[in-house]
Amino acid sequence: MPALWGRMQGVRPNKPFYRLLDRGFSLSEALVEMQKKYGVSPAKLDLLRQIAELEYPILASLPRQAVSIYVGIPFCPSRCLYCSFPSHSLHELGQERQRFVAALLREIEVLGQQVQRLGFTVDSVYVGGGTPTALQASDLSKILQILKQVLPLPWREFTVEAGRPETLTDEHLSVLVAAGVQRISINPQTKHLETLQLIGRPHSAADIELAVARSRKHFHTLNMDLILGLPGEDLAEVRASTKWVIGLRPENITQHMFSPKRASRFTDEQTAWQAMLPSGELAASMVETTRELLRQAGYHPYYLYRQRNILGGQENVGWTLPGHACRYNMIMISERQHILGLGGGAASKFINADGTLVTHSNPKDVRVYIDRIEALIAKKAVLLAERSE
Ligand SMILES: C[S@@+](CC[C@H](N)C(=O)[O-])C[C@H]1O[C@@H](n2cnc3c(N)ncnc32)[C@H](O)[C@@H]1O
Ligand code: SF4
Repeated sequence: MPALWGRMQGVRPNKPFYRLLDRGFSLSEALVEMQKKYGVSPAKLDLLRQIAELEYPILASLPRQAVSIYVGIPFCPSRCLYCSFPSHSLHELGQERQRFVAALLREIEVLGQQVQRLGFTVDSVYVGGGTPTALQASDLSKILQILKQVLPLPWREFTVEAGRPETLTDEHLSVLVAAGVQRISINPQTKHLETLQLIGRPHSAADIELAVARSRKHFHTLNMDLILGLPGEDLAEVRASTKWVIGLRPENITQHMFSPKRASRFTDEQTAWQAMLPSGELAASMVETTRELLRQAGYHPYYLYRQRNILGGQENVGWTLPGHACRYNMIMISERQHILGLGGGAASKFINADGTLVTHSNPKDVRVYIDRIEALIAKKAVLLAERSE
């Protein structure tokens, strides 16, 4: 297989590309440069161009002296096979939920006041994880309400993930609606029950359809995640899942390519399953098929990122119907605005005047996060103050 991204090592191919646009290169000139410098393949140059047309004007006009907020909820009903995200299953550490919520409320309150005091505006707010809806609805409500009380309004965007459909009760839905959440994610990954059982997700396609139907009228934007190249799936399964998700008409579809992760159960326990993964050629056909279906259905690619061991050297791409691109996703990948990360395992990124970054991560283990909460708050209050104008 030719190297689709040429000599590019990083997980954010758009960053060097947008630096060229910042320097005044036209789109065509910047693409020629990407081909010369890194040997990026024609197909990926075309993807870069399509994404830049939608994403770059938004990134080029991000407000100054603004932050986006990420809130990490590090609990899930159970661990998926491939997951390396900072999250604990409720069976393992569910008893820590109360202490976690108390620590998080404190972190939001103190750092929210710091955001206000320093005169930052808030761009987008994203509550992810983990599975935010794995918290009790009353606790999730407290978190969303305190965010609204302490962080300066208006925000440009307010998203909460409800990735696992079995966690989205009527009570959770009411809490999201009452807090004014505009966007939610309900993530099928695949429509095939056999694969869902294999990867440790105890839901079915019907559960997803029901969750979508119940949420539909309440939110401006619904996102659904798909993974191509899951163990045991062939092109026919990928095509069927893509068509099915498109049929549900979410405003956003995020298409991931499977990546074996060092910290997941996949590499710990299931090495034998390597044989169930697609070849590079098959992965490429999956990508092509999915993207053709998405294009025909009116979706546009608007952001992308790669992973270290991603199958076939491909990439993950966010697709949107017109007018629904997720600001937070673009901001997080482009690293062009401060991100203040609050909660379990949450990463913060502070941008220096010369465009370089200072990063800070909250501990992945929720017990360590709780124990160190005051020191974490103090450290980030300083990092934020150093960047106020
Ligand atoms: C932050 S994660 C988790 C979101 C949510 N907790 C869920 O699982 O529904 C966002 C997305 O990344 C994708 N993802 C996670 N692990 C992956 C892996 N090892 N390879 C490819 N995609 C992965 C999944 O599509 C997932 O929905
Ligand atoms: S629901 Fe999402 S965050 Fe939780 S274990 Fe599964 S992939 Fe990881």
